[in-house]
Amino acid sequence: MSLPNVIPLSGVGAEISGVDLRHVSDQGFDVIAEAFAQHGVVFFRDQDLTEADHITFAERWGEININRFFAAHPDHAEIALVAKEPDQTDNIGGGWHTDHSYDLEPALGSVLVARELPETGGDTIFASMYAAYETLPDDLKTRIADLRAVHSGRHIFGAGDDTYYQKSDAGQGRIGNAEVADQLQDVVHPVVITHPLSGKKALYVNPAFTIRFEGQTREESHPLLSQLFAHCYSGDFHHRFSWTPGSVAMWDNRSTWHWALNDYHGQRRIMHRITIEGCALG
Ligand SMILES: [Fe+2]
Repeated sequence: MSLPNVIPLSGVGAEISGVDLRHVSDQGFDVIAEAFAQHGVVFFRDQDLTEADHITFAERWGEININRFFAAHPDHAEIALVAKEPDQTDNIGGGWHTDHSYDLEPALGSVLVARELPETGGDTIFASMYAAYETLPDDLKTRIADLRAVHSGRHIFGAGDDTYYQKSDAGQGRIGNAEVADQLQDVVHPVVITHPLSGKKALYVNPAFTIRFEGQTREESHPLLSQLFAHCYSGDFHHRFSWTPGSVAMWDNRSTWHWALNDYHGQRRIMHRITIEGCALG
């Protein structure tokens, strides 16, 4: 029995070939899990997963998180729909972020299956937060070593007129529960985490949900946060993934950022996302 073949990619991530995700042996799963822990995001091509297959594969990683804000698949509550219709201008996830950092125990990651793709465009860019941390200047590493940061989802998912999904048309019919979002409490995580799977250090702040450092105002936090974000934007640790029919990506929220490019106006893009529960970060 042959094992999956792991091919590290430039920047971040690994492509895994020689595996059918409907039939993964225990040994094969171990290979995928190790690649996932080390590389932060893994990609598979030419898969043929039904919704049930998708759920079965995701369940091997842990408990499934039923998304509070995204529209669910009509027949499978476990699957969140990440959709953009031809008449929409804005998309979901169209800026650098990591999912669920506004939760006390942020989700481990997601398994995203391409269901309907635009003819052109719709790539997703990933960034390694392992590499982001490793490549920081030593003085900056020292400055952030003991800092903690506050994360919030209210300005993204909340009901206020100025929240992201109320201002844009990305959320229309696809994002709900704004009242629940308004009840979200801010949470605090270390700025540098020790990754629960790999034991490696990762930078754990992101431009979408990290609003300030603990014990500082937003204004006081802004210069250093901006410096950290700028380091991540320009880093040599990005990978741009082009989806093709049958593509599956699984990313780790704790060690990567991602950005769904919005460059396919007038076309439909439908993705099925299953998210797996995570743990507290230290
Ligand atoms: Fe996302």
